Amino acid sequence: RHLYGKGRLNSQGLDLSNEFVLQQLQAEMNEAARQSYAAAPLTAVEADAAAAHEVRNPADFSDIVGTAAFIKADAVPEAVSAAKTVEGAWAAVTPFERAEILRRIADKFEAAMPVLMMLAVREAGKTLQNAIAEVREAVDFCRYYADEAETTCADRAPIGTVAAISPWNFPLAIFTGEVAAALAAGNVVLAKPAEQTTLIAHYAVQLMHEAGVPKNVLQLLSGAGDVGAALTQDTRINGVIFTGSTEVAGLINRNLSRRNDHPVLIAETGGMNAMIVDSTALAEQVCADVLNSAFDSAGQRCSALRVLCVQEDVAEHMLAMIKGAMNELRVGNPAQFNTDVGPVIDAEAQQNLLAHIEKMKAAAQSFHQIALPQDAENATFVAPVLFELNNLNELQREVFGPVLHVVRYRAGELDALIDQINAKQFALTHGIHSRIDGTVAHICRRIEAGNVYVNRNIVGAVVGVQPFGGHGLSGTGPKAGGPFYLQRLSRAAAWQMPA
Ligand code: SER
Repeated sequence: RHLYGKGRLNSQGLDLSNEFVLQQLQAEMNEAARQSYAAAPLTAVEADAAAAHEVRNPADFSDIVGTAAFIKADAVPEAVSAAKTVEGAWAAVTPFERAEILRRIADKFEAAMPVLMMLAVREAGKTLQNAIAEVREAVDFCRYYADEAETTCADRAPIGTVAAISPWNFPLAIFTGEVAAALAAGNVVLAKPAEQTTLIAHYAVQLMHEAGVPKNVLQLLSGAGDVGAALTQDTRINGVIFTGSTEVAGLINRNLSRRNDHPVLIAETGGMNAMIVDSTALAEQVCADVLNSAFDSAGQRCSALRVLCVQEDVAEHMLAMIKGAMNELRVGNPAQFNTDVGPVIDAEAQQNLLAHIEKMKAAAQSFHQIALPQDAENATFVAPVLFELNNLNELQREVFGPVLHVVRYRAGELDALIDQINAKQFALTHGIHSRIDGTVAHICRRIEAGNVYVNRNIVGAVVGVQPFGGHGLSGTGPKAGGPFYLQRLSRAAAWQMPA
């Protein structure tokens, strides 16, 4: 049980040890698994949407989850115009009223947990455990930013209209986090979810509207990349919150920096996340934490472990354990509770990963890959794989999937290793496994990161407890789920001289 600052509890999730809770969840999820969902843009203007396309389950292409229609990029300016007309009215709603609406959204999400979970499973390939965490994080973001609105926004003014552009890997949590933060700070929002995960975003926005967010204060611009581009090129947008690739963050940054009126950019991008394991580390703990950090969510977390750095003296033993544990991973249908690794998001991601894996099989010193189950056809599974490299330089870019790279280092080379990690210029999430306090303190001082986790896994930051975000190629800060986020989305209110 985590507490955030003001004594509030994070979302409790579900007690799956209670058979009644489990049965009810299963029944509601089964019902949601049979449903077909339809999503269309939710805009304040009459926008001509393109023809709807089918959304298929990445774990089973024969499962049609629903249909999604996209807004055309040329309709974006009109949606922005509609947003601008309500800025004043929404800014006049007090932070306390905004907070109450956000808390109602959180309650609605908790009540809709089985449906939201199944959407995360069927549309994004999330495992059930990940789907529960997904809804809980979304709920936490609403309640956390509600509290923050009440405390930090009392003497602050909103920046205006904000574009919230979110990724498919946390299709509810990050989508909601961006939207809730912008609303909490009093901004009008144009939300552009990842094109792969339109259905869950649409479902979430409907709940947000039902909870009391006025329809033209929050518009859903479901669409492809051209919609996001049109949004960030519209000079009336006062800020952009973006989570996604480093490359796209760079494009947005260049669009915004052409302007002289200083629009706000919050970007949260990728990582080249490392875990340093020295010879004093507890092998069993390392093994469990490596597997979870590298392969949970099929490695599709910006926080996921990409490079395991093991001290030479213990490497043979440690790697043998890790490979043995990899063999026990259950890859397959994410709708089953005992699945560890589901599919990757789509065929394009699968092809890119398979190409990287083939290249590395030829280049790496050695590799260990587990077998896919027999029924892995008509889906986008990628078998978890470990590559041992001679040198960190052999890894040129972030590989967004269940691919773990390993390098060995000698005791005297720790500083050189940290230099190599820092030279990648990503600074998101790193881990340390050591039972020597001095080593932990030394690495923490020298390594560039938003979050460093010691003797534990490196994924699953909890809202209000581990504020999440990085710098350098990993993003702009401020950290999501932390006390500075709403400050970036607002400004000090004009000082009024007492008469
Ligand atoms: N916040 C996620 C995590 O900590 C990554 O986006 O895993």
